[in-house]
Amino acid sequence: MSDREHPENVKSHEHDLPTEHLYDQSPRLTPEYISEILNIKDDRVDFLGTITGGVDRAEARLIARTVSELDPTLSLEVGLGYGFSAITICASGRRPRTERRHIVIDPHQASHWRNGGLKHIEEAGFTDMIELRADYSYRALPRLEQEGLSVDFAFIDGWHTFDFVFVDFFFIDKMLREGGVVMFDDADWPSIRPVLRYIVSNLPYSVVATLPETRPREAIDIELGLEGSCIGLRKEKTLAPREVFFHRPF
Ligand SMILES: C[S@@+](CC[C@H](N)C(=O)[O-])C[C@H]1O[C@@H](n2cnc3c(N)ncnc32)[C@H](O)[C@@H]1O
Repeated sequence: MSDREHPENVKSHEHDLPTEHLYDQSPRLTPEYISEILNIKDDRVDFLGTITGGVDRAEARLIARTVSELDPTLSLEVGLGYGFSAITICASGRRPRTERRHIVIDPHQASHWRNGGLKHIEEAGFTDMIELRADYSYRALPRLEQEGLSVDFAFIDGWHTFDFVFVDFFFIDKMLREGGVVMFDDADWPSIRPVLRYIVSNLPYSVVATLPETRPREAIDIELGLEGSCIGLRKEKTLAPREVFFHRPF
């Protein structure tokens, strides 16, 4: 949910994004979505009604660079919204589109988003690559895991409380191949940053994509290399079974 602008959103890059037109033309969050789903009913409603909820330009460029380097066959995303990140993922990568599949998980696409993300994807010409699982991620992800998927790239931008983001990561980790990358949007939120701190300090993941931090950095984030509103982590290896008492404080 990042309609903030980063310093590196410089004008010279203005037309390099497949979603550029959507920053002006996309619908905004609806009053019903803000009230019924986000559960916001105070004076933040007015601001939320001005944003699209999609990744901003700097985040989109970081996603595009990461996906392009990884060149995934199978990618997966939690949280479709109006499709900013999905279109960016589909438009990046080098292999023929016919060799690619991008799974998106979202329970509210047809209702609250009025299929706006799917419509933008269709206009961008990526419908053939997309498979929508219209459900909560905590239900859809374990089903995908049971299907035995091997995922090359995943993007987490669904429900933003700590527990949901952690559960999204937990199941994605089970499906992510060695060398694959998982990216987190809104990685500077107080609910989300601790998930990343846990992963980098306790699991075999390394930080491979960041943006500049807009706030003073905490010591632990400097130590772990975490910064910015969008962070990519590469799975270095599949974890061997740990002893039951294993825990590294973070
Ligand atoms: C910030 S928006 C995603 C924006 C999108 N990534 C983009 O760049 O345009 C968050 C999305 O998560 C979806 N969402 C909310 N709760 C969810 C859940 N439990 N599982 C999956 N998606 C969820 C919402 O319907 C919404 O589409």
